[in-house]
Amino acid sequence: MVDYRKEGLVAIFEVNNPPVNSLSKNVRQGFVDGLSKATNDPEVKAVIIIGKGRTFIAGANIKDFGKPMEELMSSSPSLIDIGNMLEESEKPIICAIHGAGLGGGLELCLFSHYRLAVKSARVGFPEVNLGILPAAAGTQRLPRLVDITVAMDIISSGRHVAAPEALKYGILDQIVEGDLLKESIKFAHSVIGKPLEPRRLRNLACKSILYCISVIHQFCLKSVRNAADLSYEAGLMMENTYFKYLITGFQSFALRYSFFAERTARKWQLPSGANAANTKPLNVQTTGIIGAGTMGTGIAVSLLRAGYPVILVEQNQEFLDKGVDMIRNILKDGVSRRLMTEDRMKQCLKALKASVDLKHLANVDLVIEAVYENISLKQEIFKKLDYICKPSALLCSNTSSIDIDMNVYGKETSAETVATIMDFGKKIGKVSILVKSCHLFVANRMHGCFQTEAKFILEEGALPDEVDRILEDFGMPMGPFKVSDLAGIDISCRIQHEVAKQHDIELTLQTRFFRGERYSSLSNRLYELGRLGRKTGKGWYRYEKPGGKNAIPDNDIKDVIRIHCKELGIEQRQISTQEILERCLYSAINEGFKIIEEGVVDKPEDIDVIWWYGFGFPRYMGGPMFYASQTGLKKVYDRVCYYHKNFPYSSHWVPSDLLRRLSTAPNPVPITQWKTVLHSKL
Ligand code: 3HC
Repeated sequence: MVDYRKEGLVAIFEVNNPPVNSLSKNVRQGFVDGLSKATNDPEVKAVIIIGKGRTFIAGANIKDFGKPMEELMSSSPSLIDIGNMLEESEKPIICAIHGAGLGGGLELCLFSHYRLAVKSARVGFPEVNLGILPAAAGTQRLPRLVDITVAMDIISSGRHVAAPEALKYGILDQIVEGDLLKESIKFAHSVIGKPLEPRRLRNLACKSILYCISVIHQFCLKSVRNAADLSYEAGLMMENTYFKYLITGFQSFALRYSFFAERTARKWQLPSGANAANTKPLNVQTTGIIGAGTMGTGIAVSLLRAGYPVILVEQNQEFLDKGVDMIRNILKDGVSRRLMTEDRMKQCLKALKASVDLKHLANVDLVIEAVYENISLKQEIFKKLDYICKPSALLCSNTSSIDIDMNVYGKETSAETVATIMDFGKKIGKVSILVKSCHLFVANRMHGCFQTEAKFILEEGALPDEVDRILEDFGMPMGPFKVSDLAGIDISCRIQHEVAKQHDIELTLQTRFFRGERYSSLSNRLYELGRLGRKTGKGWYRYEKPGGKNAIPDNDIKDVIRIHCKELGIEQRQISTQEILERCLYSAINEGFKIIEEGVVDKPEDIDVIWWYGFGFPRYMGGPMFYASQTGLKKVYDRVCYYHKNFPYSSHWVPSDLLRRLSTAPNPVPITQWKTVLHSKL
């Protein structure tokens, strides 16, 4: 786990714990053994710690955190034990970092006397993303090395700091060009015999305590503050106390689930047996986008930022010019927010070509169609692309509601294509989840239940700001009515009318049922009043001006709802917080179980990841499916049955069979095992 060897005067500890060299017990023991050898060998004058494989050290083994507290705390040697041994060593210890030095990996570096890294390396304390704080003296040592505001930023953001930035702060002593080990050995020779006392961080005073009082409200910040206020030993004791408290809490549990869920979700597999591990992606170098609206330009920006050349195609010059302007503005905004440099923006714009002729897509490797949601238009475009594009080109559609199988060949999509798209998604900085084609796919299908229930709740007596507040208190970044105002009420109304037309039905303000389902025409009423949301300055809320961002509860909306209910004879009542939360969340969760049952997703973790990225569902709640597992499936199932009885005309309340079977299992089935129940006799 830690390979020991000597090169002249230097002992090398090579951490060898694939895939990311996490600090599991064997690795920690390896350090103790290595240090004992190096200390007792008079020939050894310095020690280098380096990682084997793709990275230096990714921190503690997160899987260990699920162990009981006593076992976790008594697992010896602890990281702090090793850290103390490193710091006290009379022979200089040098960490040589490539890939990532994160969490406990960085803490180990801070116990060492010198830190070198290659330019592409990253360091950081991502513990906050796991609901904990750096607890091997990270909060006590970093503020002794760098300015306290920098330490607070790094610890409380969890961000990965690139090596050049880390060098600027003094976290690194040097960036190494060329072979990391060779250069580190040279460096080791240059420091042999130099005094180590100034390199031992515990001896240093905290840099400064300016400007931090107002932000010290969370444990990480409290702990960093302790580095300034308390002795090193007292600060360390408090850090340990906070850690014990946080690690046993629900948020850390959910965040650790989220960490692994995201990685599990990447591991796609097809019924044919093809999967992420056995299918090689194709090499995509050039791309084309059809449609220069909001979606098309947004996608173009992502591709350009990731370094892909893009040919943007629109049907007429005016729309095309508008699209190019939009792209330029988004990139410029990135420069003003320091997300990219001016030079990078210029490179991106140079890589963008615009055209009104599809023929310019003849040689691209991948085309993304992003025109508006109209099946005949999409089909017409794909027919043309079939002739124009080279045979190996990948043809992709951007749609949130149209059946992929009517459009491009979803069912027939090859494993190689799936692998390429999943890989491409990662390269442009997105998280891709593989889902089967179904009406509205996963996100809109589940979120539709959530939004529909929210509207029914208004008809029954609640107000938009009340519903939004309850869901925001739960942790959603925006309630459903603020989202609806942002998206534009006209958009959802048009889609509804389009769907109704396909069934030869005309929706009016009096419509209460649509294809046998309860229906609310409340948004149509707002639409007719010209209350289209933020863009018109009025929607479910009023805004300071058209396009304004501040949602202000509006008394007029009370009247709109009151008149609507009176006309339709809907009785209003007081609705409890519990009911509002349950109806929005459980309706979506029940649909999520149906989605798993139908095999639209491969596993529940996929749904949770979709909800964090698609709707900002709080990761510290784990995602809707994890939330259901923690609430208790029996309770969720019983409430779904209760609402089904009360609202028989909403099919989203018909209980999922998978949910029923899981809820009656003699022992709770862990979320990772739900799939097995699908094929069992439960
Ligand atoms: N513990 C356990 N497993 C880990 C791990 C860790 N710290 N870090 C990564 N893994 C696992 C992943 O689950 C994945 O497993 P899988 O192949 O079975 O799915 C595998 O290692 C590879 O990870 P990625 O797919 O994420 O690989 P990437 O190359 O994309 O990313 C990385 C590498 C940037 C190091 C990323 O894995 C990462 O961010 N890791 C977590 C870092 C972290 O949170 N460290 C803090 C730990 S807590 C701590 O140290 C407490 C201390 O203060 C006491």
